[in-house]
Amino acid sequence: MTLALQFAMAGEAAPFLAKGGFRALPPDPRYGFSFHERILPSGARVIAAVAGNHPRFGVDCIGTVAAALLTHALLDGFAPDRIVSAGTAGGFQAMGGAIGDVYLGAETCVFHDRRIPLGAFEAMGRGHFPIECDRDLAKRLGLKVGIVSTGDSLDCTPEDMARLRALDASVKEMEAASIAWVCERRKTPLVLVKAITDLVDHAQATSDQFLENYGLAVTRLSDVLTHVVDHFTRESHD
Ligand code: ADE
Repeated sequence: MTLALQFAMAGEAAPFLAKGGFRALPPDPRYGFSFHERILPSGARVIAAVAGNHPRFGVDCIGTVAAALLTHALLDGFAPDRIVSAGTAGGFQAMGGAIGDVYLGAETCVFHDRRIPLGAFEAMGRGHFPIECDRDLAKRLGLKVGIVSTGDSLDCTPEDMARLRALDASVKEMEAASIAWVCERRKTPLVLVKAITDLVDHAQATSDQFLENYGLAVTRLSDVLTHVVDHFTRESHD
């Protein structure tokens, strides 16, 4: 069986890859996506994929465009049985969130910034994509469970906030729903694991919170991912 982990930022993947056992595979020359492989003693194959640096902007390719393309490349190149979208995200005090929490995405995932008031296009904009959510696993690993909502901005406009509330979102990030769009069409289970760097409903600027708490969040993320990989590569998940 093959399990794929998808990251947007190199820094989100770094502590996990630093645990060892991975070897770099040739990157995708078209987009600079990087792939790392680990074969476990059970024979299970783990592929960690990172969106990589944009050659013109010199920063990680965060956001929905690169995420969807990377998922497409992962599915075509490695035919994983399951994808885990792993990364950092904003949380909400009002939903019981705290800095450093790690969430397992709930059974559905949405977009909060696609507003298309044209009949059925509105529902298409929101998405409500299926997500695999093992609540027993969350309990065992001490993870919170909540709806993950995706948009292409770090900030949160009043309109975004109203939609996030209406969608019952606990987690705000920039990739999951676009990955879910691809996974639904390709009939591949998708699991979301998101570590909280900032609280969207807090007075401090999101970018300041993000920079302050990024190290803590990616360390927690990497610890949880070790258990998540262990869980999904056991024989019962063949
Ligand atoms: N990634 C980390 N924090 C985020 C936020 N508040 N919104 C979107 N993506 C994020």
